[in-house]
Amino acid sequence: MAPTNLIEHSFELAAEHCEDLTPLVYRRLFGAHPEAEAMFRSEGSELVKGSMLALAIDAILDFAGERSGHFRLIECEVASHDGYGTPRKLFGEFFGMIADTLRELLGSDWSPEMEQAWRGLLVEIDEVVAQSELPIEG
Ligand code: HEM
Repeated sequence: MAPTNLIEHSFELAAEHCEDLTPLVYRRLFGAHPEAEAMFRSEGSELVKGSMLALAIDAILDFAGERSGHFRLIECEVASHDGYGTPRKLFGEFFGMIADTLRELLGSDWSPEMEQAWRGLLVEIDEVVAQSELPIEG
C-alpha cells in the first residue's frame, strides 16, 4: 500500500540512508550561496544550524500533515531572518534544498509521486513566505 504522506515517507527513507541531514543540507546551501555562511555566528554555529534544520523539518512535516501549529514557525522566521540578513527568496529556497538533499539520498526510491508531492508543497510554502508580514520599520 502506498504511504498516505509522501513527504513524511521521504524523510523516513532518507533516515535509512543517513543519520544526519545537517552536513548535506548546509553543504548544498553554502555551495550555491557562499554568502550565506557569513550570516551565521562564527562560534557555536554548528548547534544553531542543526536546530534550525530540525525546526524547519518539524514545520515541513506539520505543514504536510496535520497542521497542528508547528508550521507557523515558517511565517515567524521569515521576519526574524530579515534581521539575520537572509533574503526572503533564499529563505524559501532552503526548503527546496532539503528536497534536493532527500532526492539525492533516495536515488531510485524517490518516486514520481514523491516528486509531485514535494513540488506542490514547495509552491504552498512559497506562498506562505510571500504572504508573511514585512517587519515593522523602526
Ligand atoms: C537559506 C536560508 C536560511 C538562512 C541563510 C538562515 C540563517 C539563519 C541565521 C544566520 C540564524 C541565526 C544564527 C545565530 O543565532 O547565530 C538562523 C536561526 C534560525 N533559523 Fe534560519 N536561515 C534560513 C532558513 C531558515 C528556515 C527555512 C527556517 C525554518 C522555517 C529557519 C529557522 C531558524 C530558527 C528556528 C533559528 C533559531 C533562532 C530564531 O528563532 O530566529 N531558518 N537562521
